[in-house]
Amino acid sequence: MQAIAHYQQVISNYFDNFSLQKEPANLYTPIQYILSLGGKRMRPVLTLMAAEVFGANCKEALPAAIAVEMFHNFSLVHDDIMDDAPLRRGNVTVHEKWDVNTGILSGDAMLILAYQYFEGYEPQKFRALAKLFSKTALEVCEGQQWDVDFEERNDVTIPQYLKMIEYKTAVLVGAAMKMGGIVAGTTEDNCGLIYDFGLNLGLAFQLQDDYLDAFGDPETFGKQVGGDIIENKKTYLYLKALQQSNAYQKERLLQWFAMQPEDPADKIADVKELFKTTGADAATREAIEEFTNKAFATLAKMNIAEDKKQLLHKFGLGLMQRKV
Ligand code: IPE
Ligand code: IPE
Ligand code: MG
Ligand code: MG
Ligand code: MG
Repeated sequence: MQAIAHYQQVISNYFDNFSLQKEPANLYTPIQYILSLGGKRMRPVLTLMAAEVFGANCKEALPAAIAVEMFHNFSLVHDDIMDDAPLRRGNVTVHEKWDVNTGILSGDAMLILAYQYFEGYEPQKFRALAKLFSKTALEVCEGQQWDVDFEERNDVTIPQYLKMIEYKTAVLVGAAMKMGGIVAGTTEDNCGLIYDFGLNLGLAFQLQDDYLDAFGDPETFGKQVGGDIIENKKTYLYLKALQQSNAYQKERLLQWFAMQPEDPADKIADVKELFKTTGADAATREAIEEFTNKAFATLAKMNIAEDKKQLLHKFGLGLMQRKV
């Protein structure tokens, strides 16, 4: 078992040498572009770590790890079209730099490239990996559809929100880790436990993503701050704010989330103020901690060496403190 930085290095080495010099350039250049912008690359690191936790060499898990990151990048390109997002990783989004059609097709190609990374595994592992991947990818689509449907609804409940983020985000984090377990050939029990660890970490991760979307530092965040507020996203911040507001605050929130003003500055400022005065910001931070602790509880049930648990624990704590 190595330090977290080692796994990050393995992934960044791979992408530093990644080159798709193929025709047509308008299909492949956007793929090269989005991948070159990097990002945290958390999911592939988790795949490598999980593989070593269960006794494999992380190199064996590299194709599966890259598949997960490729899929994640595909989902971001399409997500930015759906969310009308101008910025990704501190740079212009694919559909703004090129156009929507380019974003759609380059995204599709990345999804297919992702599958191709599994081809090198022996049949039994290939089957298990591809099966998990397909199930997860379909769930991500379901989660993304809920997310978009919720924009137009004003009756979304917190359990419905949690289900939506489980599907759009958490299942991929769980699957990334389970793939490490599959590559290592560990038991069903271990696969299930590492999946649950990743799932709960993923729930905390999306809550934190929502929090940073409102309260991140525009200088360093890399995405448009207030994007969820502009799009009337029914985030945990919003749903908690509604739940904890007085009649006057509630009316303001409902009014803002029934419109999309041309200049969103006043809306963003007032909604952020409401997120604070209702205590929704503190409630969100508490929920992040709660789901992270749930992940840690899963870790305690795992039959692995203490130093391995420590490493996964450290990774989880690091995620809670992230600013991007
Ligand atoms: C963003 O994921 C999309 C979510 C599921 C919240 P990341 O925050 O992992 O994005 P990158 O890859 O680091 O840019
Ligand atoms: C994205 O959720 C989830 C997927 C891409 C599947 P968000 O829409 O909150 O992600 P960001 O904030 O744009 O990265
Ligand atoms: Mg988005
Ligand atoms: Mg989205
Ligand atoms: Mg977000």
